[in-house]
Amino acid sequence: MKVFHTGAEWKEIRLQLLQAPKTIGLVPTMGALHQGHLDLVDQCIKNADVAVVSIFVNPTQFNNKEDFDKYPNTLDADLELLEKAGVDYVFVPSVETMYPTPTKLQFDFGDLERILEGAFRPGHFNGVGVIVSKLFHSISPDIAFFGQKDLQQVAIIRKLVNDLSFPLELRLVPTRREEDGLAMSSRNRRLNPEQRKKALILHDSLVFAKKELEKGQNWLDVQQIITRNFEELEGAELEYFELVETDKFEVFKEFDLTKKSSICVAAYIGDVRLIDNLTINS
Ligand code: PAF
Repeated sequence: MKVFHTGAEWKEIRLQLLQAPKTIGLVPTMGALHQGHLDLVDQCIKNADVAVVSIFVNPTQFNNKEDFDKYPNTLDADLELLEKAGVDYVFVPSVETMYPTPTKLQFDFGDLERILEGAFRPGHFNGVGVIVSKLFHSISPDIAFFGQKDLQQVAIIRKLVNDLSFPLELRLVPTRREEDGLAMSSRNRRLNPEQRKKALILHDSLVFAKKELEKGQNWLDVQQIITRNFEELEGAELEYFELVETDKFEVFKEFDLTKKSSICVAAYIGDVRLIDNLTINS
């Protein structure tokens, strides 16, 4: 496995790779890797000839400076995991490499960036759009892999790829869960044991809501029950619990069995912000 730090280094490597045409797969990450990331890596290795992983904690996608400062950095352990997994190249750029000058670039993803994550984390998706574009330009992957846990991010990136005609294919990889259902996240390591137990409310709420909808229960009633459950759990604070169309990410006020739907949740457990989602009819 080779670690590189600049786009220029990659250009050299790519030139050599081009001598025998190969498909290049990219897994963009912010490090602090867990099994969920390794599932993406696994898919990348299986589906591309050359597997590249990027590790970059992107400052422009954090609307909260404290969240950025607290983001775990486990680079040595990450590199060890990637080496063991069989990754070919790891891109670990510096902030100066990715942002030689502060960017003022503004995307407009329309309603998609104004609801759910977009509403609660203003500017977040602009930062994601900027860095993912830069990564796509730097690496020129043929296939890029993203996790279903960040479902709205996937919708944003799909729009980015379509609107800017990036010549690549996007692949979605299912959310990896702990045995009790908690979605794996780099942020989980900031939960203390009591918060870790309380964090289960996210997955439990999704499973409950899905069952209720499938029984024919009204969505707004289900949403109300969940909101109350969060209010009753000390140390938990619900930001949203919404039903959306899975691909376009439009918010539904009622459940329609014929439409591809997902339930999405975001909540604070203590000072740790977690998100999760469950698809109802894929
Ligand atoms: O999902 C993430 O980890 C990040 O948002 C991404 C796609 C690596 C961009 O920084």
